Amino acid sequence: MKLNSANINVMVKACRKASKTVIRDFGEIENLQVSLKGPGDFVTNCDKKVEKILIDELLKARPSYSILSEEIGEINNDDSFKWIIDPIDGTSNFLHGVPHFAISVGLEHNKEIICGIIYDPIKDEMFTAEKGNGSYMNNQRMRVSSRSKLEDCMIFTGGPKRDAKNRELALKEYYKFSIKVLTPIRKLGSASLDMAYVAAGRCDGFLQRNLNYWDVAAGIILVKEAGGFVTDFNGENEYIQNKTILATNAKINEEMIEVLK
Ligand code: 2AM
Ligand code: CA
Repeated sequence: MKLNSANINVMVKACRKASKTVIRDFGEIENLQVSLKGPGDFVTNCDKKVEKILIDELLKARPSYSILSEEIGEINNDDSFKWIIDPIDGTSNFLHGVPHFAISVGLEHNKEIICGIIYDPIKDEMFTAEKGNGSYMNNQRMRVSSRSKLEDCMIFTGGPKRDAKNRELALKEYYKFSIKVLTPIRKLGSASLDMAYVAAGRCDGFLQRNLNYWDVAAGIILVKEAGGFVTDFNGENEYIQNKTILATNAKINEEMIEVLK
């Protein structure tokens, strides 16, 4: 079984094409680490190249759709469909030569995400989901985990950045979870892959503040279609506006919200 709709096929094709540039440039990083200028500009450049390939491919197939993308911002066409693009999610990993990052593309229709793809080009793991049709990893159906006790769970988070205004709060939340779980909290550095891993049942719950829409758009539909929950830290649906996101299996959402109170 696999997802086979026209939109998913467009997204898969665009990601596969863009991933060639990502893989090639990642191979160069090691050489740049020793240069004086360092890999910072190189990565920004790669981000932009990958974004251009994605946008060219997506607009070629769907000229009327709008776009929101990390580097270029918005292209406004027909407003009812919009691609939400993060060309490289996990840029710091990429920059340091850590092979854990992804291309992430979501498709929004009437303000709701209806399709998503997260592609880890290094592990060649492609996570896709479509509203009503389930979540898949390399064409195999995915389900969230069934762990029901927070204590036994694998929790992922990310941030806070050095200059985040609610840094203290984020660290306090980290502390509260760290004394609940037996396995120490993980910080893998790519929010989109964190959410894909919740969908795949590898991680039981993910929480993070201050993320942008493009970091989580594709992840939202992946988690939901795998049977999980996506809410903000209050258990509501305002995760974009409130800039807090909680993605969990179907069992631990309430317990995690309790911890956050
Ligand atoms: P990026 O690589 O696309 O910038 C790291 O914790 C993860 O959080 C990455 O997915 C990173 O996305 C994302 N991120 C983006 N903005 C952030 C912010 N202001 N604070 C923390 N993490 C952020
Ligand atoms: Ca990015």
